[in-house]
Amino acid sequence: MHSFLNLLTLAGLASQASAACSRALLQEATTSYLKAQAAGKPDLLLALSPNASYAENDKPLLITKGVLSQPVTIDFNRTLLDTTECATFTEITAATSKHPYVIHTRMLLAQDSSIITAIESVVTDDGDWVFNATGHLYWNKQEKWDPVPEAKRTARAVLKAAGDAYLDQWGNSSVAVPLGAPCTRLEGGAYTGTAATTTNTCKMGAFPQPLKVANRRYVIDEELGAVDIFNGFPWIERTKPNDSMPSSNLFRVEGG
Ligand SMILES: *[C@@H]1O[C@H](CO)[C@@H](O)[C@H](O)[C@H]1NC(C)=O
Ligand SMILES: *[C@@H]1O[C@H](CO)[C@@H](O)[C@H](O)[C@H]1NC(C)=O
Ligand SMILES: *[C@@H]1O[C@H](CO)[C@@H](O)[C@H](O)[C@H]1NC(C)=O
Ligand SMILES: *[C@@H]1O[C@H](CO)[C@@H](O)[C@H](O)[C@H]1NC(C)=O
Ligand SMILES: *[C@@H]1O[C@H](CO)[C@@H](O)[C@H](O)[C@H]1NC(C)=O
Repeated sequence: MHSFLNLLTLAGLASQASAACSRALLQEATTSYLKAQAAGKPDLLLALSPNASYAENDKPLLITKGVLSQPVTIDFNRTLLDTTECATFTEITAATSKHPYVIHTRMLLAQDSSIITAIESVVTDDGDWVFNATGHLYWNKQEKWDPVPEAKRTARAVLKAAGDAYLDQWGNSSVAVPLGAPCTRLEGGAYTGTAATTTNTCKMGAFPQPLKVANRRYVIDEELGAVDIFNGFPWIERTKPNDSMPSSNLFRVEGG
């Protein structure tokens, strides 16, 4: 706990970095992404670079062959805007869609332009680990993720450290994770609490074998107090030591 508080103080002093992309620009890109996914029409995307990369579940794919080329009924969405990295994160819960999905998408934009240079998604559907879009929708939409008032914002480095600690604890139970109260965790469609939870129900601890979560790609939004980490989760593919599951973990931090 003490080292976490120290980190908070240090990061607070260094949080004056200048923004590389405006929220308005990033918001426009994600709005176009949601429209494109709802219609199944990638050409509704705001200014996609002709050489933009596109990948689903860590595999490069033609955009015309991907989920973005299928219409999906969007029941709920959340977006993170990362003005430092010119990156966006969008979560789509599609429970009532003909084909139910939960999709996490990270997009990169060229600096100070609206040109999208990379799109990658973790696309989950029936048969994926604890997948339940109905449960995901039910619990997710009860969570209030309002913008954090400016004076109460958590520094970028602290948000990143909190997300990293959560992933690191899986391989090392000595890692201190700054879990507060209340804390709730949504795994696929399963929730550890209820809307009325006042305690910390997030504690996990380590897996019974050494485990290193690699290939972390971050989208950090200080205004929302949130960070998403795309990562390779090695546990489920443990029979293939060099393989990992495409995975995405989304965190919200309140009050540090
Ligand atoms: C991608 O296309 C843009 C023009 O939209 C160009 O400026 C850039 O050099 C290209 N990048 C690569 C890696 O080809
Ligand atoms: C995404 O969520 C916002 C509310 O946060 C809502 O206003 C918007 O209509 C949603 N977009 C789609 C395509 O469902
Ligand atoms: C999925 O979640 C809903 C809502 O929480 C629940 O009613 C349903 O039983 C769940 N389905 C499965 C297969 O767990
Ligand atoms: C586990 O985490 C603790 C606390 O951060 C650290 O001191 C220790 O070196 C870590 N162990 C390994 C094997 O990484
Ligand atoms: C896994 O990766 C390590 C390090 O890159 C390599 O030495 C080893 O041969 C790989 N094992 C398999 C089964 O591919």
